[in-house]
Parts: sequence; structure tokens; C-alpha cells
Amino acid sequence: MLRFREAASSDITNIMALERACFNTDTQEAESTYLERIDAFPQGFIVMESADRSNFSSRSVGEFLGAVSSEIWQYEPSIARDSFTLGHSIKKQLKLAGDELYISSIGIFPRHRKCGYGKLLFRELINRVHVLFPLVVKGILLINEEWHGARKIYANNGFHDAAVFDDFFTSDNGTKTNGIVMRNDDITKIIIG
Ligand SMILES: CC(C)(COP(=O)(O)OP(=O)(O)OC[C@H]1O[C@@H](n2cnc3c(N)ncnc32)[C@H](O)[C@@H]1OP(=O)(O)O)[C@@H](O)C(=O)NCCC(=O)NCCS
Repeated sequence: MLRFREAASSDITNIMALERACFNTDTQEAESTYLERIDAFPQGFIVMESADRSNFSSRSVGEFLGAVSSEIWQYEPSIARDSFTLGHSIKKQLKLAGDELYISSIGIFPRHRKCGYGKLLFRELINRVHVLFPLVVKGILLINEEWHGARKIYANNGFHDAAVFDDFFTSDNGTKTNGIVMRNDDITKIIIG
């Protein structure tokens, strides 16, 4: 059984373990960045856990499977590289009355990948944001050109390539890879249920 809930600061140990399991050192965000995201916009920071049916109460603690974080921005047709830099402050860019959802990170622990959890978690985020912030109709995100699993989830959900940032990412051996900004003009089409 799966359970989704908003992240809390008490999740930070699991969130940082997930960050290390998902991203190389150049791409990992600092703990302070995640704590700021939880504080500023918990409605857009969703944790996925497994839970036994026998232990399924709001206070029970299941196995932490993954998490997704996001921000609400005001749509701008131009795409600024600076908006996507590691450690950018959510509090400076968050516009709760805005119309575009920026998905800042999604991760599933490696042992639980390719079971469909990533796409469920992504759709849960879109559903929740739609209910709480109905003005949000657009979506934007940045991926490394080598994050094939994430790219598949976003492409399957109507995101298209909107810009390329040359040599945006650096792998642990120093190799540079491009960043690809993907956009979706109507994320309400993703909504299920
Ligand atoms: C991206 C990630 C969250 C996907 O989670 P997941 O639970 O494995 O994804 P799912 O099982 O829901 O798979 C979703 C789709 O992607 C495909 N997919 C998953 N991993 C893939 C891979 N490595 N290569 C190609 N396709 C892949 C699945 O086949 C599925 O396609 P379908 O819907 O057409 O059947 C996970 O791989 C991860 O945590 N990666 C590291 C962090 C990362 O890259 N985050 C992206 C930051 S924007």
C-alpha cells in the first residue's frame, strides 16, 4: 500500500539520503535548500511511503520510497539559466498566485525504481497542486540530458523540450552534459481521478 503526504522538516534525513542516492556530488542540493523548500511550500513537496494496511494511520511511519519538490512561478516566455542554478532560493522565486509549476526535483530510491512509483508520485503532485492552486496550469522543469527515466515521465505527460543549456551539468569525472528545459502549456490534462 502506498501513501502520499506533505514533507516535514523531520523528513530531512531521508530526503538527504535520497538526494545522495539520486544525484552526483555536483548536482546535489544542500540540506538548507531542502529545508527552505519544505518551509516555503510544503504543499508542493510530497513524500511517498509504503505502509502496511494494518498500520495505516496518519501517524504511522512507512518506508520512505521517494519524494518530489516544486515551486510556483509566474510564467515568463523567456527562460533564464539563472533561475535553475543549484541552491537558488525558493523564497525569492515562489509566487503562490502564479500560473506555472516548477518541478525542482523528483527521486525514487534505486531499489524501488521501475515499479511505476515515479510516475505515480509525479501525478500525485500535479493533482494536489491543481486542487489547492487552480490558477497553476503550466509546468516547467530542467533535466540532465542523461536522466532517461525522468525524461520519459515528463514526455509521457505532455512536456516538450523548450531550451537547452549547454554544459550545464558536471559529472563526477568532470564530463559536461547539457541541461534541457521542458515545458507543458496545460498540465491539467495530466490530472487523474
Ligand atoms: C526518474 C525516477 C524518479 C523515475 O522513477 P521510477 O519509479 O523508476 O519511474 P517509473 O517506474 O514510474 O517509470 C516511468 C517511465 O519511465 C521509464 N523509465 C524508468 N526508468 C528508466 C530509465 N532508466 N531509462 C528509460 N526509461 C525509464 C519506465 O519504463 C516508465 O515508462 P512507461 O510509463 O512508458 O512505462 C528515478 O529513476 C530516479 O529517482 N532517478 C534518479 C533521480 C532523477 O533522475 N531525477 C530526475 C530529476 S528532474
